[in-house]
Amino acid sequence: MKTRIPGMILVNSPGPTPIPSAVLSAMHEQSLDLADPEVDAAIARCESGLLSLTSAPPDFRVYLFISNGHGVWESALVNLIKPGQQVLIPSTGPFSDWWAEMAVTNEIPAVRTQWKPGFPIDPQNVADVLRNDPSRKIDAVFVVHTDTATGVTNDLKAIREAINSTGHPALLVIDVVASLAATPFSILECGVDVALGSSQKGLMMPAGLSFIVVSPRAREFSLGNQRPRYYWDWQRREGPQNYQKFCGTTPLQFLWGLQTSLNLLKAEGLEKVYQRHRRLTSAVHAAVEQWRQEGYLEFFCKDPLARSVSVTTVSTAPEVNAHEIRKIARERFQVGIAGGIGNMFGKAFRIGHLGDHNEASILACLVGVESTLAALEVPRGRDAIAAAIASLQTPVSQIYKTKSKQALTKEN
Ligand SMILES: Cc1ncc(COP(=O)(O)O)c(C=O)c1O
Repeated sequence: MKTRIPGMILVNSPGPTPIPSAVLSAMHEQSLDLADPEVDAAIARCESGLLSLTSAPPDFRVYLFISNGHGVWESALVNLIKPGQQVLIPSTGPFSDWWAEMAVTNEIPAVRTQWKPGFPIDPQNVADVLRNDPSRKIDAVFVVHTDTATGVTNDLKAIREAINSTGHPALLVIDVVASLAATPFSILECGVDVALGSSQKGLMMPAGLSFIVVSPRAREFSLGNQRPRYYWDWQRREGPQNYQKFCGTTPLQFLWGLQTSLNLLKAEGLEKVYQRHRRLTSAVHAAVEQWRQEGYLEFFCKDPLARSVSVTTVSTAPEVNAHEIRKIARERFQVGIAGGIGNMFGKAFRIGHLGDHNEASILACLVGVESTLAALEVPRGRDAIAAAIASLQTPVSQIYKTKSKQALTKEN
């Protein structure tokens, strides 16, 4: 049997992401009896930390779930879409498709917009659908902020403005699973009614804890929704006891982990967290820019301004074996990257750069991928690592101003 030495393989997947040792240690702390005041205090700290991380007003509520992201997807659907009504889920790659599939399985018709692969949601398409809904069949618009499969981040303010321009009252629900604590997100600034996220990405925790932040308007709306629900119901979680808040036993170690991860983010400072993600992403982009020169590897996201700071999806030409890249990177060079998923299965690899990463972990990952490409003799431009190192010397504001303009004129 092969044995693994923990910590010897870099985790450069876009979720689960590396877990800081402070979070791991906190999650090793012993349980308490559920009446211990520290339990309620920990829940309160987690709730207020999530409100502040999402820039939500204080009258918003936080509901915590012991589930992965799929759980809170379902919770948003069954609380917000009334029987006979519809949800609009603009297409932005596989994650929006899977959310829509879940809606349909719950007998909720999902209206979709056209997707131009490699590009973000066109807010105009959202406005067009809402304008064509005079009888207000659509209760909510569900948007995936960053689609982790494509590496595309959508412009939430533009989508909010598009909705406003129609006068349609649909609620705006945002999946921040892959973007939270990596790219700026503000419930207040984007006029978001509901945001949902999960622990295993920017929150630097294991998978298993998810949350929903809900506006008073969305809460009222859910209270008037007759759709049957139990575990995913929001109101059921409003009881005063922590056992009620979790619709069952309180997952203490997850709370210890979450409060620690929120403290780490606070100690670094959210602005610095965002800057670090942009800086590290610039190194990955610089390397991919070199790799793509021979035409065998390419950014999946064609709009440089929409490229995610959480994950970069690199499309591979048919001659290149994307599965083999992932396998060799892990087995020979100890770098755990992700593969293409959905309709990109076998046609891409993905480099995760969100969460607990720094210059060393990103450069090491890029060296591992470069070594893999060399081992597999994938034709590619030279000097990817030098370009990545050089990008780390440039102030972030400068890289993004100049690079985006250059890249836009080159690619569009
Ligand atoms: C953007 C996004 N939404 C939802 C999910 C689903 O989360 P989970 O896999 O934890 O169920 C993921 C998972 O990667 C995701 O990236």
